[in-house]
Amino acid sequence: MTPAALSGLDLLATAVIVVDNGDVLRHMNPAAENLLELSSSHVVGHSLARIFADHELLEAALQYARDHNCSFSEHGLALGVSGRPRLHLTCTVSPIERNSAFDLDGCLVEFRPIEQQLRIAREERVHDQSEANRELMRNLAHEIKNPLGGIRGAAQLLDRELENPDLHEYTQVIMKEADRLQALMGRLLAPHRMPTPSHVNIHEVLERVRSVLSAEYQKAITITRDYDVSLPLVYGDAEQLIQAALNVARNAAQALTEAQRDAIDPAAEIILKTRAARQVTLARKRYRHAIELSIIDNGPGIPPEIGERVFYPLVSGREGGSGLGLTIAQNFVSQHNGTLTFESTPGRTCFTLLLPVAEAPDVHSQRAAQ
Ligand SMILES: Nc1ncnc2c1ncn2[C@@H]1O[C@H](COP(=O)(O)OP(=O)(O)O)[C@@H](O)[C@H]1O
Ligand SMILES: [Mg+2]
Repeated sequence: MTPAALSGLDLLATAVIVVDNGDVLRHMNPAAENLLELSSSHVVGHSLARIFADHELLEAALQYARDHNCSFSEHGLALGVSGRPRLHLTCTVSPIERNSAFDLDGCLVEFRPIEQQLRIAREERVHDQSEANRELMRNLAHEIKNPLGGIRGAAQLLDRELENPDLHEYTQVIMKEADRLQALMGRLLAPHRMPTPSHVNIHEVLERVRSVLSAEYQKAITITRDYDVSLPLVYGDAEQLIQAALNVARNAAQALTEAQRDAIDPAAEIILKTRAARQVTLARKRYRHAIELSIIDNGPGIPPEIGERVFYPLVSGREGGSGLGLTIAQNFVSQHNGTLTFESTPGRTCFTLLLPVAEAPDVHSQRAAQ
């Protein structure tokens, strides 16, 4: 192959090999070297049968693509490499012809680990779900908010007209409950205000969260910072990002203090951590750079009966909880094209927020020093 085609393949994050029509490996990009744990200098020039155990399915996929001169995907590939446990992969085989870019007839084979596919599918599902949630909440909140104003106004008028003072209790209940519902609807609708984006230092966001939590929980919880101060700025709405991180961190603090009950547990800790992430797929788009923000606590964990439903509106495991904290957090994060996911076992719950970093040069040149 020409150097141009080669270097193009070598830049891809996807594992790619090039196989000629005699099923001999002619090129392997670095991502494929990583995935298959092979060095291209050892295997290029060898037949697939020599490199892989269980190579038959791969050869059949190559044959099909050649015979029909079209791309072909095989989803259940299990390749054995040098006696290691078999790798479960999907592969897409595309025929290539000798032309200006390639100096051979053969096929390009892209490999993807199956677990990565499942993860992307899961993220897509969560994304669709949160879009649907958002739509549902917006409509519901509007429907409830409008008549509430009327109910409250009518109760107020009635309250003034009542001659029997004992009956005021009832009109007061109507007004108070109407106010409470108004406030709740206000919170449901809040995510839909127009964001005001700017270049945001993620550590300033976390410092705000830290100071609010320190004031609320004082000595009950240790808050540890583990920041990568070299991270670039993100482009987003600072208030929304603070609210999202605060909702997650406050849940962690509540879980920790609930677990403590009477005595303060000196080990109760929340870790605020930031790292750089590369080549991530967020909401179906691939980004070269992203920021990974983790909020980790050593509390009891998400109740298993709630599980993945934590992000749904009105799902709460706490007495008096509104069940809106994580719904709102996820809405804000998806408005930034990011994702919010979690892993939880008793003793360790980690919420991870991935935010893409815009590719604009002016964003890269500004650093998010603490
Ligand atoms: N870090 C955590 N540790 C344990 N449980 C959690 C954690 N974060 C969230 N949860 C669970 O998820 C539920 C939903 O959270 P949220 O949407 O903020 O609503 P709320 O806090 O009003 O209940 C919580 O009630 C709690 O049961
Ligand atoms: Mg909450």
